[in-house]
Amino acid sequence: MIAWQAPTVDAVYVLAIIVFILGLRSMSSPTTARRGIVQAGVAMLIAVAVSLLVPGLSNFLFIAVGIGIGSLAGWYWARVVQMTAMPQMVAIFNGMGGGAAGAIAAVELLTSLNNGVTAGLSLAGAVIGSTSIAGSIIAFLKLQGWLRSKPIVFPGQQVVNIAVLVLGVAFGGYALYSLQTFWLLPFFVLLLLYGVMLALPIGGADMPVVISLFNAFTGIAVALDGFALVNGPLGDAGYAMVVAGTLVGAAGSLLTLLMAKAMNRSVSNVFFSAFGATEESGAGVQGSMKSIDADDAAAEMAYANEVVFVPGYGMAVAQAQQKVKELADLLEARGVTVKFAIHPVAGRMPGHMNVLLAEAGISYDKLFDRDEINSEFPNADVAFVVGANDVVNPAAHRQGSPLFGMPILDVEQAHNVIVNKRGQGKGFAGIENDLFYKDNTRMLYGDAQAAIGQLVAALKKLS
Ligand code: TAP
Repeated sequence: MIAWQAPTVDAVYVLAIIVFILGLRSMSSPTTARRGIVQAGVAMLIAVAVSLLVPGLSNFLFIAVGIGIGSLAGWYWARVVQMTAMPQMVAIFNGMGGGAAGAIAAVELLTSLNNGVTAGLSLAGAVIGSTSIAGSIIAFLKLQGWLRSKPIVFPGQQVVNIAVLVLGVAFGGYALYSLQTFWLLPFFVLLLLYGVMLALPIGGADMPVVISLFNAFTGIAVALDGFALVNGPLGDAGYAMVVAGTLVGAAGSLLTLLMAKAMNRSVSNVFFSAFGATEESGAGVQGSMKSIDADDAAAEMAYANEVVFVPGYGMAVAQAQQKVKELADLLEARGVTVKFAIHPVAGRMPGHMNVLLAEAGISYDKLFDRDEINSEFPNADVAFVVGANDVVNPAAHRQGSPLFGMPILDVEQAHNVIVNKRGQGKGFAGIENDLFYKDNTRMLYGDAQAAIGQLVAALKKLS
């Protein structure tokens, strides 16, 4: 039960908790997601502000400096980050949350090592928080291209990883048993090392799942810290952390499972199979790539009954969503049925394509997810792939391919496939794409923004 010695503070924490929950609920639909982000931000602001009123709090200058640095850095990076660099920003911001949870746990351990329950909870929070910050930093470095993005593997890796984890936890356990804070040092060092080693063998296409899992870890670490704080002098602040941490932990865990499902992998397989470590042989590739120019591509679309657009990461890089909308509008004005096929991991963050297409004003009822649209491709006269690669790679159907088993958009079943990309670049997973060599596929080379601009111009000439 919430302590009653400061009823106003408690009431405001309850308010913050309610707004957190409403925010999370709003985030579950693309139409209300922006509102959800604002609600969650307001809830966090309320929770932080009211924490400053908790009786017994001191060191206000120190707190103000921390809040100032964090807010400025967060505000600046969120303003300047490119949409395409969002995953690494999410990874590093989330890692900071894990680091904060680990730091709170460290303070609790240093001050309350002899308080069995508090120390036990803090130790658990420290294990998860340290793993999360170290792993998130590796994810950031890989996504940013500052570290090799392919899996970094060596023989006996899993055994070494488990040994590091067990040894780290053993040091922590011994610190609790002996009440000697010295043992917390090797405990933290080994747990941070464990986070690094957990993320090293994970490559390319699996990174989103990993970031989401570390996000869930951060939430759980915060919740555990909250339980530990509840027993201390700032008890009430702990309740808000328990609720906020549990929400993040639960939402992050569900998102992890959903994304793993979208790639037809189990979470353990993502972590322990070093996906992408093998080089793709291009075994399914037959024939050669055949190009098409904008005039011919426009004519093919103009006289189609149905065109299915398949956007991917390249559309995001080129910021071509407005051009895509313009093209779709022109086609619809000619009576062509236009649909958009959205793969859950297209782009570089969950919901990436939905966000961009919504920004361009394309209505949600034209967007179809993989399960809804795959049966539609055989009826489509044209599947127009805009900067997508991995999510349309039929190699995923072929045993032996590193992509084997990943559910894809079956665009090759359309009567004609037009693929827009700049050249021979591979997708995120670094795998050759069989689709580009198929008889019914034509390549429309060029930056998506420019190429679709040419399509629009060509289509206008036809009208
Ligand atoms: P990718 O497989 O990454 O392929 C993108 C393609 O776009 C490239 O082959 C590239 O070819 C082309 N391209 C790049 N810039 C372009 C431009 N300016 N204009 C036109 N084309 C351009 O994309 P995807 O199919 O969307 O798949 C996403 C991949 O990212 C998956 O493997 C997924 O697992 C991974 N991933 C997803 C997320 C989330 S949560 N969505 C997060 C991280 C990673 P050229 O170089 O030849 O142009």
